[in-house]
Amino acid sequence: MPLVTTTEMFKKAYDGGYAIGAFNVNNMEIVQAITEAAGELNSPIILQVSAGARKYANHTYLVKLVEAALIENPNIPIALHLDHGADFDICKSCIDGGFTSVMIDGSKYAFNENIELTKKVVEYAHAHGVVVEAELGKLAGIEDDVKVSAEDSSYTQPDEVEEFVTKTGVDSLAIAIGTSHGAYKFKPGTKPQLRFDILHEIEKRIPGFPIVLHGASSVPQEYVKIINANGGQLKDAIGVPEDQLREAARSAVCKINIDSDLRLGLTAGVREVMFKDPSIFDPRDYLKVGRANVKAVVAHKIKDVLGSENKA
Ligand code: G3H
Ligand code: 13P
Ligand code: ZN
Repeated sequence: MPLVTTTEMFKKAYDGGYAIGAFNVNNMEIVQAITEAAGELNSPIILQVSAGARKYANHTYLVKLVEAALIENPNIPIALHLDHGADFDICKSCIDGGFTSVMIDGSKYAFNENIELTKKVVEYAHAHGVVVEAELGKLAGIEDDVKVSAEDSSYTQPDEVEEFVTKTGVDSLAIAIGTSHGAYKFKPGTKPQLRFDILHEIEKRIPGFPIVLHGASSVPQEYVKIINANGGQLKDAIGVPEDQLREAARSAVCKINIDSDLRLGLTAGVREVMFKDPSIFDPRDYLKVGRANVKAVVAHKIKDVLGSENKA
């Protein structure tokens, strides 16, 4: 089937009490790993591309890789989404360039400016059959070299969501309830806890509306250990506990964003092979192990965290 928007996926996920995994793609191995796992588990999936991914791999290469994945996995719905679009121009470029969904991330702007920017993107996107995700509230962490400190991050204010959604006409909303980007989400010795009270307040204000959770990697400790045992140096990398993500998936959260866990799986595989046998120089020898780890991460998320198995 051709690329789909997220409209139908989110409606079914909302009603069915599960979430769709949105996984970041940067190269062929990652596209293959995600879509093979989703195909085998009969799960809908969102492949998302950041500005950094477009810079690294080139828009056309990424679109064509995703098109190849559609041919290889004809039975599952796949959406192609722009992750963290910073301005109108990048959203327009992705809408014109074959994406079915874009995020306009106006979270760094004041409320009214965020509304104006989001509305402009929504008007253009909807006129072209593309759906839009926006963000209210600020996540801590790093994305595309923009670093938001924990002090500058702020939870989404439930009081603002209804006005934002009504005035912008946006299709889904990313909220800040304690997740953050990257592999260092919580301080060692503290108890990671998402603010489900804020999420439930938001659900009440905009019933039936799909919510998105960014920064939702759980930072699998087995991969952190493998990386560190094979020359890596990841200290105190801590993610979101998976039971809390499962709880989120049962709520109005319809899209859960995961990138760091894929990076960890890929890096663990590559490091393990190269460290054990320094004579290896055929990229296929180490990339295939990294790719298998990424596939295992995605399969685990679909089955044990998102609940999207057999929902295609
Ligand atoms: O939200 C951030 C994603 O992990 C994408 O990261 O901007 O380094 O590609 P990136
Ligand atoms: P992680 O860094 O937790 O994987 O978050 C990814 C993300 O939110 C992409 O938009
Ligand atoms: Zn994000």
